[in-house]
Amino acid sequence: MTQRLAATSSGLETAASLLRAGKLVAFGTETVYGLGADATNPTAVARIFEAKNRPRFNPLISHFHSADAAFQQGVACSLAYKLADAFWPGPLTLVLPRAPGSTVSDLAADGLSSLAVRVPRGENVQALLRAVGRPVAAPSANRSGRISPSDAAHVLEELDGRIDAVLDTGPCVVGLESTVVDLTTPDRPLLLRPGGVSVEALEAVCGPLTFPETESDVAPQSPGRLLSHYAPLLPVRLNATSVYASEALLAFGPDHPAGSGAIWNLSKTGNLEEAASRLFAGLRYLDAEGQKLGLTCVAVQPIPSHGLGLAIQDRLHRAAAPRPI
Ligand code: TXA
Ligand code: MG
Repeated sequence: MTQRLAATSSGLETAASLLRAGKLVAFGTETVYGLGADATNPTAVARIFEAKNRPRFNPLISHFHSADAAFQQGVACSLAYKLADAFWPGPLTLVLPRAPGSTVSDLAADGLSSLAVRVPRGENVQALLRAVGRPVAAPSANRSGRISPSDAAHVLEELDGRIDAVLDTGPCVVGLESTVVDLTTPDRPLLLRPGGVSVEALEAVCGPLTFPETESDVAPQSPGRLLSHYAPLLPVRLNATSVYASEALLAFGPDHPAGSGAIWNLSKTGNLEEAASRLFAGLRYLDAEGQKLGLTCVAVQPIPSHGLGLAIQDRLHRAAAPRPI
């Protein structure tokens, strides 16, 4: 049984002591729900992979309540301080050289000489991380390859009985994962994953980012970017300007083609932040509703490429990619 903990002071205390005891606790961040474990405890970290059914180990992001705590584990360059000042707490992950005295387990860091660190935003997650007082490793709290959870009910749909507790901190405000920037070569910051901080906002602080040219360029550095992530069960068709009777529709903006009745509009006003926050819930809804109605596909209207549009397109592109059999 997975305990559902309310975000009260006693719920937070229980969640923190479970984490300190090597248990698995999912919790909300501003991006998505994370499946947390004490990053310094390799047995606890191994349980994350088991619960998610991950076929192989991936490096995990370590979460902290402050930049100071994060920079004890990852070595900060001047650009890291600048980005932390501008965006932490918030949806940005920095990949830094792992500090010589880092206590994060090799399993959480996947044996790499770098470490991904992040200070998430939100009163509850901050209080939780402060109370744990250790780095907390947390991938998104879904089964491997499935849609990321943006509320506690989604976590339980996927992981009930497989984890010790979920701290219900309500729906996630950003709704898709953090932007991952690799600073291991500080004069050439590399965008490993578009996410909750837009490229425009980042570049205003750090100057031009390098974009990996192809999937294979980035795959070894950031395995989470492998294709076919975020997959609903129904196939996904992108850039649809019309909808077949057999399709559910993921719409964007005030004008959408008439469809089957299974429609989820990401944002009627065409607001990309609202769209990001409703993306994963929409995919879940259309998947369930589409299957109930006997539909065979989810059609997706075109999404603009600016602001959070890039991160939304990235997740949709993965949802539409060929699936491993
Ligand atoms: O918003 C988020 O980032 C959420 C919440 C829970 O914080 N977490 C999340 O974790 O999305 P996960 O495991 O699903 O994605 C972590 C990403 C992956 O793409 C992984 O490859 C990359 O970060 N990553 C982690 N450590 C890395 C490292 N040392 N070098 C390069 N990429 C790394
Ligand atoms: Mg994930």
